[in-house]
Amino acid sequence: MSRPVRILGIAGSLRRESYNRAALRAAAQLVPEGATIDIFELDGLPGFNQDEEQQPPAKVAELKRSIREADAVLFVTPEYNYSVPGVLKNAIDWASRPYGDNAWNGKPAAIMGASIGAIGTARAQYHLRQMMVFLNMFPINQPEVMIGNAAARFDAAGNLTHDATKEFLRQLMQSLVDWTRRLS
Ligand SMILES: Cc1cc2nc3c(=O)[nH]c(=O)nc-3n(C[C@H](O)[C@H](O)[C@H](O)COP(=O)(O)O)c2cc1C
Repeated sequence: MSRPVRILGIAGSLRRESYNRAALRAAAQLVPEGATIDIFELDGLPGFNQDEEQQPPAKVAELKRSIREADAVLFVTPEYNYSVPGVLKNAIDWASRPYGDNAWNGKPAAIMGASIGAIGTARAQYHLRQMMVFLNMFPINQPEVMIGNAAARFDAAGNLTHDATKEFLRQLMQSLVDWTRRLS
């Protein structure tokens, strides 16, 4: 039996009916046996202030602890103005600091995202990949899960109803688990 793989899932939206938070919940249902997803909600995370990075607020300390306890990270990003939303960038910045105490360092990762538009967060995802270079994270390359036209793929209760998208999520989770085991 392989060791369990613990994935930390972070969605870059605070919206109650967020498609990205819904997609993260769907992914949590589709992880392979032997893996789990814990969801970290970003609400309550204050805006980054470098004056506080040595003694960060409790929610930041909790975020950094959760990242360190996880074997891998799953980012589920909306696209805001062709990039990642500020709440997600803010979380990334907090957990990368202070210099020399980057909680993301060396973590295997996967990226996905949902948008009401046709492009399905592609531009935001490539910005996130660029950040991962400096964070020293190791994202899987494929499958690229870009959920376009999200309003047609989730029901009113936030359940993912599109079978082809479910299959992409299943493959993404399997790839992340395999990749994490290879790196460990
Ligand atoms: C400030 C803002 C900027 C946005 N910019 C984009 C964009 O660049 N590309 C895109 O596909 N959708 C864009 N959208 C629409 C989002 O895809 C849509 O609001 C989506 O539902 C956000 O994700 P969520 O449902 O997880 O909150 C934008 C929305 C907001 C509020």
